[in-house]
Amino acid sequence: MSQNRVSIFDTTLRDGEQSPGCSMNLREKVRMAMKLQDLGVDIIEAGFPIASEGDYAAVRAVAAQCRKVKVAALCRTAEQDVARAAEALKDAAHPRIHTFCATSDIHLEHKLKKSRSEVIDMTRAAVRQARSYAEDVEFSAEDATRSDIDYLCEVLEAAVDAGASVLNVPDTVGYTTPMEYTHLVQQVRERVVRDRDVTISVHCHNDLGLAVANSLAAIEAGARQVECTINGIGERAGNASLEEIVMALHVRADRLPYATNIKTTELYPTSQLLSSIVGIDVQPNKAIVGRNAFAHEAGIHQHGVINNPLCYEIMTPESVGVPANSLVLGKHSGRHALSLRYTELGYDVTPAELEAAYARFTNLADKKKRIYDQDLISLLNTVVGAAA
Ligand code: KIV
Ligand code: ZN
Repeated sequence: MSQNRVSIFDTTLRDGEQSPGCSMNLREKVRMAMKLQDLGVDIIEAGFPIASEGDYAAVRAVAAQCRKVKVAALCRTAEQDVARAAEALKDAAHPRIHTFCATSDIHLEHKLKKSRSEVIDMTRAAVRQARSYAEDVEFSAEDATRSDIDYLCEVLEAAVDAGASVLNVPDTVGYTTPMEYTHLVQQVRERVVRDRDVTISVHCHNDLGLAVANSLAAIEAGARQVECTINGIGERAGNASLEEIVMALHVRADRLPYATNIKTTELYPTSQLLSSIVGIDVQPNKAIVGRNAFAHEAGIHQHGVINNPLCYEIMTPESVGVPANSLVLGKHSGRHALSLRYTELGYDVTPAELEAAYARFTNLADKKKRIYDQDLISLLNTVVGAAA
């Protein structure tokens, strides 16, 4: 991988699914995973196999369907956990075992009830075991940003010696700041990675609203894998939002010259698919994919945008896949307008599916004042044989 290429590790199906009200069934997870593959993510974390039968089945199914991307399974540093993750990944084209253990004193004392040296031993054993099943092993030091830096580096060193090639330093509780995280990544780079072929990964939670800023700072400091989710869903206040990181790198390539493999025009359709699956609307003012992200209300802004969109738009709606078409769909709209919107959203709808979707659409339009794209995707999902 080139020095300036950043891998996108999507954890919508694992950390994202841990957010309240965002659970998905097997079919939905596979559907979402296929969309993530088309979007161009490098790694899909499909679940935590030891946590439930559902997660195990989801990892197996995603691994069977998504052959072009790496598929990761999460496990703690315990023997049965690692074995279960390996079993779930056994038919994957590109398996990654992702094992993690907390490294902060607060977690060691109150959660794990382990000493520092026990955690080092557990890390070494789990990474070795994972390497007996897969070439590609990632180790995460949970709560890295509240860990003692010398001890953190010792644990990471043990993980590399045992065979991990990706080291993740998560900001598990969304506590760090961009400059502090920059320093942490630099330290890991200088003290642990040195000249070895090891990738530093970052994983930021959004408790202080800094997840994207922290992720970007870490990339500038040398991280080359970033863990994130569509719409920023995830534990508590969520994870760093994939679409925001990608578009920051894209729009500000002058300051942030790092490439990803993401097809930016798939961002909005992917975001809409996720909200239709989990049934949670994207907040209207959400950057990149919120419905107001490209809306201009004030007269002075409208005037500027009419003269030249660059006055108030730093990227075009089309560049992130927001359909340019401004036809408002309501109860008086016909099949043509509906069909056009589906095409713009990237769906190839057969005449029979359109007919069935249209019947449901007119029904919904009778009850609802405004019909949003995610409503259209949801009703298409209910039509038999609908394909994304
Ligand atoms: O937030 C976190 O620390 C995690 C790890 C399991 C990577 O989700
Ligand atoms: Zn997390």
